[in-house]
Amino acid sequence: MTLPKSAVSHEILVRDRRDPRDPRDPLGLRAEAPMLAAWLDFTRSSEAAELLPMSVPGHKQRQDLVGTVIAGDAPFYGGLDTIKQADSLRLECEGRAARLWGADWCRFSVAGSTHGNQALALAVGQPGQEVIVNRTLHRSLLLGLVLAGLRPVWVRPEIDRRSGLPAGVAVRTVQDALAAHPSACAVFLGDPTYVGTISDLAGHAAVAHDAGVPLIIDAAWAAHFGYHPDLPPHAIAAGADAMVTSAHKALPAYTQGALVLARTTRLDTARLDRAFEATHTTSPAGSIMASIDAARALLAADGERLCGRLIRGVAAARKRLLEVPGVSVLDGPGVEATKLVVQLAGTGAHGNRVEADIIAAGMPVEMADRDTVIPIPTIADSEDQIAVFTDVLIDAIERHRGTPRSVMTAASWTVEPQTVLAPREAFFARGETVPAATAIGRVSAELIAPYPPGVPVLAPGELITAAAVDALREVASDGGRIAYAADPSMATFQVIAE
Ligand SMILES: Cc1ncc(COP(=O)(O)O)c(C=O)c1O
Repeated sequence: MTLPKSAVSHEILVRDRRDPRDPRDPLGLRAEAPMLAAWLDFTRSSEAAELLPMSVPGHKQRQDLVGTVIAGDAPFYGGLDTIKQADSLRLECEGRAARLWGADWCRFSVAGSTHGNQALALAVGQPGQEVIVNRTLHRSLLLGLVLAGLRPVWVRPEIDRRSGLPAGVAVRTVQDALAAHPSACAVFLGDPTYVGTISDLAGHAAVAHDAGVPLIIDAAWAAHFGYHPDLPPHAIAAGADAMVTSAHKALPAYTQGALVLARTTRLDTARLDRAFEATHTTSPAGSIMASIDAARALLAADGERLCGRLIRGVAAARKRLLEVPGVSVLDGPGVEATKLVVQLAGTGAHGNRVEADIIAAGMPVEMADRDTVIPIPTIADSEDQIAVFTDVLIDAIERHRGTPRSVMTAASWTVEPQTVLAPREAFFARGETVPAATAIGRVSAELIAPYPPGVPVLAPGELITAAAVDALREVASDGGRIAYAADPSMATFQVIAE
């Protein structure tokens, strides 16, 4: 489909910062983003055939072998600066990000919040210690618990009965868990939730700190928080000791780019570095690193205006969608202002069919299931673009309208696991493959998650219940993706050998 011209013509932002000499940096961000400047210089030399690298990457910047797929690839070490000097550049740029977020420590990751979550799990406690964790955690943190040998004490979010979606975790819930598990060494929470609902992070920080433990936040979706008065403060500003956020989700950074930020009152700098390096590549892509630096510079220079534009675009979309009979949208003080969660139960339209239409229109969304469609508008979208998408979405809903039904809460939000073994013990235990019928009542050796949202319905060490198997099957039969199962047909399951 062809978008109307107004929707695709990108407005020129921060006009006075534009560098007319380099169209590859239209906003002139290089002056405030040293990694970006280094990437621009390296790739310019490479394009001018001034380099004959006798170092990796093996493509040597030649586009006559595998083609342009490697265009713009520059190694951080040995590309953005010499292998011997690049750490100074890294420290300079990570320091700038730490200052922007009010943290004492920051690392740029080229392996997403997945790596950041695992690094933070490795940064606290000792193997065998308990941590308080929300059970609606992303699977990456669960694998972090496996790596670190931490034992989860699960806390669960409140479920909003009207929408069937999770709200934040109540402070009282975490306080009670800390009281019942006084030797827990940290609190890990995901905030905002996948559907944009938020918790009282200042309240969580207070109860964690009263108990003498750090509060660590998976803020994968919240790299823009704190940069507009109508958005919640970011986790560090709210009092958390560490946060991970995907620069590639909410900000205009390269896929995989993420930031890990910490305050070092309750966390140790050397341990944080050790934990980060444990599972990060030794060959980070300079383009990803430079894009994180550039996104940070953009946020610092123009974040409030860009977030304001996004908030207006989403507010208009929510209003427009609410005029459509049967449609509801998640809204209110507990929902962050840039999230667009569209609920279809009252229209009778099936989310997967609606999604197929909007994919065909060239507008893939982040998530769709029977009752919910979740697009991800970001600060890169203009109000016009969000309005165009909204019209296409409404047209698709109208095409698939049917008999209204009641909202069903997805298994990802309601799972109440019975933990038999700690995740690490189960991960390394001897396993066997059994038919689904005999798997019920056995202990799972594998992690199985409908993706998105990537919340495990079954995790290593948890009792396989008929409810969990039925819920996973229902997602699969309704067209959902079941990720990480050894047998995606779920005819068999991996269980701990008896
Ligand atoms: C809550 C949450 N945490 C972590 C991640 C992992 O992020 P990434 O894709 O940057 O590795 C995701 C991915 O969607 C997520 O939803």
